[in-house]
Amino acid sequence: MSAVLKSMTGGAAQAAPRHFLELSDFDAATLRQMLDLAADTKRGAVADKPLAGKTIALIFEKPSTRTRVSFEVGIHQLGGHAIVLSSKDMQLGRGESAADTAKVLSRYVDAIMLRTDSVAKLRELAEHATVPVINGLTDVSHPCQLMADVLTFEEHRGPVAGQTIAWVGDGNNVAQSFIQAAARFGFTLRLATPPELAPPAQLVDWARREGATIELTSDPVAAVRGARCVVTDTWVSMSDEKEGGPTARHNMLAPYQLNAALLQHAAADAIVMHCLPAHRGEEITAEVIDGPQSVVFDEAENRLHAQKGVLLWALGAG
Ligand code: CP
Ligand code: NVA
Repeated sequence: MSAVLKSMTGGAAQAAPRHFLELSDFDAATLRQMLDLAADTKRGAVADKPLAGKTIALIFEKPSTRTRVSFEVGIHQLGGHAIVLSSKDMQLGRGESAADTAKVLSRYVDAIMLRTDSVAKLRELAEHATVPVINGLTDVSHPCQLMADVLTFEEHRGPVAGQTIAWVGDGNNVAQSFIQAAARFGFTLRLATPPELAPPAQLVDWARREGATIELTSDPVAAVRGARCVVTDTWVSMSDEKEGGPTARHNMLAPYQLNAALLQHAAADAIVMHCLPAHRGEEITAEVIDGPQSVVFDEAENRLHAQKGVLLWALGAG
């Protein structure tokens, strides 16, 4: 705020921007408020064009199909304007700091979404922005995905609290957001990963201290047994690509493939989720992802609705 405007407004301190960085930053009621807004927008029960006059910058340092399109379409449908930016085309991509980028963009736009390799960069952006910053995926989390996943589970199977969800495969960024979601939404999470690819112990300890039931195993059958939902994700995430060839990861992860034989151990009415993009024949078979228990395209659609809930909450427009 300029000195002139500050003196005109009596120098009142601005409210802190409503960032959406990690599920762990919120209490359960606030996340539920966002999901309720998501459900309201999905059934057309929000005011017309609640983001009219608002501009949101969407910055991508990594590729995206769903996040890019669902944010841009969602903002348009809510009456706002989205500017999609590749960091390659920004000074951010050639060394301008996240802090300066945050300060400049805050003078132009009403919110900023960032997909980045670096959680430190996201945090720096948020620290220096005076408008809400939304996490569109980092190497350690993907909270927008989890909002869509909880919405999807509840649409298909009712309240997620008290249910058991199984994760099989890599303990990656999406798995780590699942751990945070288990703590906040009250479901039991069983993760089967190779020991080398287990989620960080510090995160698991945090979730357990928050009261979550998190079970870790290297046995996919033990994880899946009786679960109402089975989830997997790619064996090679975008942040793993710089590590070289994927062969070692594929060899480690092959026993964790989500196939019909593994799915048989889940509850008879279990649903299957995958954030996409999927690699049929690797982490999941075509038979399972294209089969009757799969809800992956409802899940992809719900990115649109869940993010509308997050945006309405962040911009105080709900
Ligand atoms: N699930 C997800 O975030 O997909 P994109 O990488 O296509 O955005
Ligand atoms: N774990 C994947 C998710 C993509 C949406 C990745 O980070 O590449």
